[in-house]
Amino acid sequence: MKPSELRADIPLLDNIIYLDAASTTPTPKPVVDAMCDYFYNYNVNTGRGAYKLAVKASERFRSARSTISNFLGCNEHEIIFTKNTTEAINLVANGIDLQKGDSVIVPNIEHHSNFVPWLNLKRKGVNVKIIKADEFGVVNPAEIEKNVDETTKLITITHISNSIGSVQPIEEIGKIANENNLLYLVDVAQSAGHMKLDLMKINADFIAFPGHKGFLGPVGTGFLYCKDENVENIVPINLGGGTVSDVTEDSFTLDSSPARFEGGTQNISGIIGLEAAVKYIKKIGIDKIEKHSNKLTKLMFEEIYDIKNTICYGDPENIYGITSFNINNMNSHDVAKILDETRNICVRSGYHCAIPAIRHFGAYEHGGTVRASLHYYNTKEDIQILAEVVKNIAESFGD
Ligand SMILES: Cc1ncc(COP(=O)(O)O)c(C=O)c1O
Repeated sequence: MKPSELRADIPLLDNIIYLDAASTTPTPKPVVDAMCDYFYNYNVNTGRGAYKLAVKASERFRSARSTISNFLGCNEHEIIFTKNTTEAINLVANGIDLQKGDSVIVPNIEHHSNFVPWLNLKRKGVNVKIIKADEFGVVNPAEIEKNVDETTKLITITHISNSIGSVQPIEEIGKIANENNLLYLVDVAQSAGHMKLDLMKINADFIAFPGHKGFLGPVGTGFLYCKDENVENIVPINLGGGTVSDVTEDSFTLDSSPARFEGGTQNISGIIGLEAAVKYIKKIGIDKIEKHSNKLTKLMFEEIYDIKNTICYGDPENIYGITSFNINNMNSHDVAKILDETRNICVRSGYHCAIPAIRHFGAYEHGGTVRASLHYYNTKEDIQILAEVVKNIAESFGD
């Protein structure tokens, strides 16, 4: 499948240049169709009724889990549905048994979703050890290893920085976690659906996924991969209907995973849409997506880097899907507004929910960075138009 065929399935792209995949992605027609089919034809709850429609909805929900786990190469029951990546991370941060004096290792350039839940544990007396990335936004595994001691319980890191696109050595860091018998959580919000992920090689205990970004699934979807052996390491935090196998007047027995973690009515239409999205990604071919995005990322960085009065963040040899930049003496939001007003170019500007990262990269005074992020629907022309407008802005306003 060519990028133009994907574009044809996304009417939203007819009149805009969408370069904000890192926030969320537009939804292709087959995904919307799968959701409409649910709403029009079997819009009932799952896991409850014995009538035909209820059985159909339950089967489709189950099928989504199976399609996703097949795609990733893990067991069906290792997939716990959540409403987004943030919820998946919080499930771990609030569910594992961390005590006063324990410590966790967290890089300083994380998205707030993989930063604040850990900082919040300080209230319990947990020590949060912050590891500084280098100037290109890469975390050195040796720095992590240096900070491991007898109090360390968990290491977490994001695969691809959402603020500048730097790619982290997650497999190497996973080895450190395993050698030291530590829990390991990886946030793949910016890589899932954008590149092949080998779960065996990452070897993490927990991996937090969005459904609504690289997978092209609907908003309101995400999931946590929880390795089999870790089910007992997290206490469910959202108890109620669907999470128990027995209840008496004074006790309850938790169901097995994933049911114990999926309390209440789920985002059924969203998950059915997510299944269609994963099938769609499979149809395009994840290797093709990766090749296309690698090529366009390099082009995007180089085109903007070559413009006078611009600052680009990160090492072009080690970024993926994202180019983060500023124009001298301009606020990032002003640049983004002009891009939108002149050519309907949609980019994100600001702190990208990663204020410590923005401070680390020295972009705070610009009000953050301008972040252009792509997917398989983007073309060389999109990048060239972006570069052309950035050049005009830099010539007119930057110095
Ligand atoms: C690296 C990273 N982690 C977590 C999140 C939060 O994702 P969600 O909106 O799915 O909770 C994002 C969102 O941009 C992200 O880029």
